[in-house]
Amino acid sequence: MEQQPHILLLPFPAQGHIKPLLSLAELLCHAGLHVTFLNTDHNHHCLTHLQPLSAHFPTLHFDSISDGLPTDHPRNIQFMRDILFSVKSVTKLRFRDLLADLSTKSERPVTCVIADSIMSFAIDIAKELGVRVMTFWALSPCSLWSFLCFPKLIEEGQLPVGDDDMDRMVRGVPGMEDLLRRRDLPGLYRLKLDDPFFISIIEDIMAMTRTSALIFNTFDNLEDPTISHIASLFSRIYTIGPLTTLLTSRIEHDVSRSLSSFNNLCEADRSCMTWLDSQSLRSVVYVSFGSTGLMTRGQLLEFWHGMVNSGKPFLWVVRRDGIEGAEGEHPIPEELQEGTKERGFLVDWAPQEEVLAHQAVGGFLTHNGWNSTLEGIVSGVPMVCWPTIADHQINSRLVSEVWRIGLDMKDTCDRSTIEMMIRAVMEERREEMMKSMDRIVKLAHDCVDQGGSSYHNLDKLIEDIKQV
Ligand code: UDX
Repeated sequence: MEQQPHILLLPFPAQGHIKPLLSLAELLCHAGLHVTFLNTDHNHHCLTHLQPLSAHFPTLHFDSISDGLPTDHPRNIQFMRDILFSVKSVTKLRFRDLLADLSTKSERPVTCVIADSIMSFAIDIAKELGVRVMTFWALSPCSLWSFLCFPKLIEEGQLPVGDDDMDRMVRGVPGMEDLLRRRDLPGLYRLKLDDPFFISIIEDIMAMTRTSALIFNTFDNLEDPTISHIASLFSRIYTIGPLTTLLTSRIEHDVSRSLSSFNNLCEADRSCMTWLDSQSLRSVVYVSFGSTGLMTRGQLLEFWHGMVNSGKPFLWVVRRDGIEGAEGEHPIPEELQEGTKERGFLVDWAPQEEVLAHQAVGGFLTHNGWNSTLEGIVSGVPMVCWPTIADHQINSRLVSEVWRIGLDMKDTCDRSTIEMMIRAVMEERREEMMKSMDRIVKLAHDCVDQGGSSYHNLDKLIEDIKQV
């Protein structure tokens, strides 16, 4: 009997990784494929609101596996190390048993695993069990390229990136010789070379080359030279982004919009949409540092004063777990909020894509997580960048110096710079940035339309998956 494709998707258990992979799951199901989406037990419980997705996609199934941490163990960014190491020991062992069952005993055996690159243990397990495996890189392609050049960077004496000599140019990332300063290398390179976290991620990256295909949430023309460099190391590459925009293109707009709102671990406070409705065209700055951003109280107050002094209305996502030492209480003192309630709207979690698409939003103060960067691009909202970890530092460099759609304030955090950059993006330099932005927005939308490269590459990926 002919084997029907059944794909097991394995995200790294964090918002920025789950969301794009869930969009891919929906796209595969929309094409009639069977998908099992494997969350950790903890996230599975946070995502109970996913039920309507299963109703919309009858071939989408959710399963869960332990992340190895006690139920009450915190799972925010401050505990990312605990999660990473626990997943790579406990989850790894359970995954072997689960995949062995799903690929042999199940009615519809799993024929292909698509694993987040940080879950690289799945690569060898799948291969050992004779199941095809592909890898999904949830970050920016330019960050991957800089990681693949790791030996050259060591040779060049650039690593680890410390506090000194941060403006020295980096030569070891071919194609980016005139672009990158040490401070623009991904945040991971700021760790010591013998830091187990660093070693673990580099091992994951090396493991990726053992898979049959690499999938990127990006679109052609955005980073072509980088993609060509990476392509020389992988047998097949699929650029199928921006995934949430591709979802909108393939599935009726209103349906896909409500579907993508399910792809979040947190429930959004929608009251900010009503507030946005009352603001004038392109007047508001949306401030969000993603699901993992972490800042001190001092930094938070600099942002607060910078925003207030800019004179612009702002909508700000202030996550309680995103401020060091703000246990329980509201991190912005009541007396500061008093005078600005009309102009500054605060939420714990926003429906970000909808916010960025709202006509009142004219600027985005962001940490440049890859999802946020793509979402800013798709909505044509110029950015002020405050990168913190992961790929953010290199993404913000591209935003400001290559795509020219924003300003980069990395490694500074003072109220006058914030005020100055907000004013520049919203007024003084807006016109020039919008010219570059309009070009990139068009590229992004053309790629996901029928006949566009991401649209076409998704079809090729589906054909590839079907080659059981
Ligand atoms: C992390 C890394 O930082 C990022 O660089 C990597 O590419 C993926 O994992 P995160 O820091 O959370 O992710 O940032 P980002 O990639 O921007 O993802 C955050 C997601 O949460 C975005 O899709 C955004 O739309 C969503 N979000 C964020 C909301 O829906 N509401 C919010 O209030 C804040």
